[in-house]
Amino acid sequence: MKVGLLTSGGDCQGLNAVLRGVAKSLYNSVPDLELYGIIDGYHGLITAEWRKMKTEEFSDILRMGGTILGTSRQPFKEMQVLGEDNTDKLSMMLKNYNEAGFDALVILGGNGTHKTAQLLNENGVNVVTLPKTIDNDVYGTDICFGFDSAVEKATSVIDAIHTTAVSHGRVFVVELMGNKVGWLSLYAGIAGGADIILIPEIPYYIEKVLEVIDKRNTGGKKFTIIAIAEGAVSAEEAALPKKERAPDGLTAGARLAKILSGNLDQDVRTAIPGHFQRGGDPTPTDRILCSRLGAKAGELISSRQFGYMVAVRGDTIVKVPLEEVAGKTKSVPTDSQILYQAGLLGISIGV
Ligand code: F6P
Repeated sequence: MKVGLLTSGGDCQGLNAVLRGVAKSLYNSVPDLELYGIIDGYHGLITAEWRKMKTEEFSDILRMGGTILGTSRQPFKEMQVLGEDNTDKLSMMLKNYNEAGFDALVILGGNGTHKTAQLLNENGVNVVTLPKTIDNDVYGTDICFGFDSAVEKATSVIDAIHTTAVSHGRVFVVELMGNKVGWLSLYAGIAGGADIILIPEIPYYIEKVLEVIDKRNTGGKKFTIIAIAEGAVSAEEAALPKKERAPDGLTAGARLAKILSGNLDQDVRTAIPGHFQRGGDPTPTDRILCSRLGAKAGELISSRQFGYMVAVRGDTIVKVPLEEVAGKTKSVPTDSQILYQAGLLGISIGV
């Protein structure tokens, strides 16, 4: 059996742990296995760049961040656009897959990756996918791998900022990753004891943020920590077309800090950990999740069950048909229990 492995989209912790899990599971169940590592995600499938993997390449990578295969972003919307040579990327991928004689592809990625995986699936490619992203926004799974590790990193930033915020009596705006969804800011914000958490799903009111800071100052807490997702917007910004929301090119955190500085008699600082959140080793929780997801993906491939994403439901690893997943995003429900409990803890979400 000839199986291609591919990691696509932004990297995150746990990709190598999944590759190892898939490989181990397959080596243990498929006698005539040949594993191929496709280079830099869909790019390698488009350009027919892959290499035959040696068993030892999967050793000692359980705790290694990044991806041993390389990755790249290949926008879904460009997949069926004709290029100068009068062919499109989808056709190239199908041609290369068929000519190489692959029996299946294992695809690790987030939302965009899943849309392309479904396109391949619809066109006769045998695929099994795994939900990767620090954003935790892949539909159909309770949790994505990489998320727990990113929460740990983001929390460590808030923890470190706390001491300076307290010592100087400052307002700190910590901008965390999450363009469309606020899972990372919500979890890291709660874990790090943030006072205000602002997420893309809920446009915030600047007056409310100022009111919370004022209340804290009056009550004797001279510092405030705000965890804001990079895609969060104020209610005022939300009313504008997307392109006009950041006329000065400032990030969400910088825009908020600018307004706060102009309205407060107190130092305001911004911290943006950026890709720090995607780097380094996966947490033990992620390593377990990645290993279980990888094992399940291997099981599906060896029993020739294709067209599925491997997912988490409660304590169980399940398979979900790709067509139920592709094209959807798992946002933070505005009526979710975790938001309600954040409220009980006195955390403001800016409304
Ligand atoms: O999707 C994961 C993610 O880290 C987002 O949170 C972030 O908006 C984006 O990727 C950053 O992408 P890039 O690494 O291409 O700058």
